[in-house]
Amino acid sequence: MSDVSAAASGQFKLGDKTFNRLGFGAMRVTGEGVWGQPEDRDGSIETLKALPELGVDFIDTADSYGPFVSESLIRRALHPYDGLTIATKGGLVRHGPGIWLPVGRPEYLKQCVLMSLRRLRVEQIDLWQLHRIDPKVPRDEQFAVMAEMQKEDLVAHLGLSEVGVDDIEAAGKHFTVATVQNRYNLVDRTSEAVLDHCEAKGIGFIPWFPLAAGDLAKPGSVLDQIAHKLGASPSQVALAWVLKRSPVMLPIPGTSKRKHLEENVAAASLALSDEDFSALDEQGKAAFKQAA
Ligand SMILES: NC(=O)c1ccc[n+]([C@@H]2O[C@H](COP(=O)([O-])OP(=O)(O)OC[C@H]3O[C@@H](n4cnc5c(N)ncnc54)[C@H](OP(=O)(O)O)[C@@H]3O)[C@@H](O)[C@H]2O)c1
Repeated sequence: MSDVSAAASGQFKLGDKTFNRLGFGAMRVTGEGVWGQPEDRDGSIETLKALPELGVDFIDTADSYGPFVSESLIRRALHPYDGLTIATKGGLVRHGPGIWLPVGRPEYLKQCVLMSLRRLRVEQIDLWQLHRIDPKVPRDEQFAVMAEMQKEDLVAHLGLSEVGVDDIEAAGKHFTVATVQNRYNLVDRTSEAVLDHCEAKGIGFIPWFPLAAGDLAKPGSVLDQIAHKLGASPSQVALAWVLKRSPVMLPIPGTSKRKHLEENVAAASLALSDEDFSALDEQGKAAFKQAA
């Protein structure tokens, strides 16, 4: 095990699995526009293989990344996933680079799960998340088939993505919502109320695009000064801030590059003081309000 370890981020328990809070998002091990094979396929496989030695044991992917490329590379690099928790998603179809369309018909969602099982070569998916609620299909129909698949033991835990508190409560009538994956970072606080709800209910909150700091990272800014003081980069401090924000926070920074992976994992060990946390919180909220 390397000196740098995601174990420093603390742990989260999902049923009988416990993993380190700082995970990995495997969307970037694909081509431009999250379409096709990555430019450096061997390098991407090496990055995935490095995850266990860096203590990263929670990996997020989706059938639509590639599509199918990310799940297949994860299998190639990490099967049989000893000690790892693999989360995937379904419910979005792809018509080309950068194009994502929700399809939530129950028979399609069931196929998503069956094909992810085949690609990941597992008998049960640790965590399956509905990538988007399809507005053209009653949400209860989408939640009902998820509950059915859990009863059939095809999936151990179920989660949602890009949802509000009302959706979480509606899904909760069908199954226990284990995780919620919404865009969240220092300067995007749209999901603050959802995060508070998740913390109150013990639901894991998976912030995507967690490294973003926008203009806050400018030279001379509070973030830049704190980064200098800690001998870290602004994106490492942004990640340390996200981790400190809540014990249910499970960030999944993504990269295809091993060097970037190591930098991101090192952020787990950054000791951000309460004072620095609050100063960044204020600046982030102000930047978010200004951008709104
Ligand atoms: N649920 C959803 O709707 C949804 C949507 C988007 C993403 N996600 C999930 O969330 C994960 C993270 O989201 P994200 O990839 O959008 O955001 P992110 O992890 O915050 O940022 C990734 C970007 O930052 C770069 N990067 C990563 N580490 C770096 C470092 N140390 N130094 C410099 N650049 C670095 C990456 O490029 P390099 O490859 O060059 O390092 C990539 O361009 C995804 O992998 C995916 O699993 C979910």
